[in-house]
Amino acid sequence: SGPQVARLVASRVLDVPDFPRPGVLFKDLMPLFADGAVFREVIDGIVAYHGRESFDVVVGIEARGFVVAAAIAYATGVGVVPVRKAGKLPRPAYSASYALEYGEATLEVHEDAFTAGHRVLVVDDVLATGGTAEATLGLVERAGGTVAGFTVLLELAFLGARERLAPRPVHALLTV
Ligand code: PRP
Repeated sequence: SGPQVARLVASRVLDVPDFPRPGVLFKDLMPLFADGAVFREVIDGIVAYHGRESFDVVVGIEARGFVVAAAIAYATGVGVVPVRKAGKLPRPAYSASYALEYGEATLEVHEDAFTAGHRVLVVDDVLATGGTAEATLGLVERAGGTVAGFTVLLELAFLGARERLAPRPVHALLTV
């Protein structure tokens, strides 16, 4: 159930102070990925929430989103499309840049990643400011996909990403 999965996520997050920069409290979900039974429940929870018939392909955002996306894809029999940091994709790609606290980041997706009208489930581990998600959802649409859903394991509500991404729905297994 939803509350049960939320408790599982809460039990497997480690708070790491001052990473990657002084003053940032990093939410580390690697203990969740490392626990096979918990990881499976979390993946099954995401699939159950959206329904396995509601998407044709799953997008994972580099790098921890890849772990989540690949597991959902394997569990449901769909394929994975990676959204990668700039310069990593080998073929023509669309780019989207967004502001970070210091500087700028760029994400990319292959231009031919989606069949027109393909329903795309986008997943990542953590939703913080929402810059990464906003760029990714835009890239999916530019490449001809239809966003069928967006799910993260953990949402940091105080950073306001949900408002930033509105009216697109955001699903988080755990919101803190
Ligand atoms: C983290 C996280 C999300 C993003 C969320 O990735 O996995 O992708 O930041 O932040 P935002 O909502 O403020 O955009 P990170 O940039 O650390 O990349 P990595 O997984 O490759 O280490």
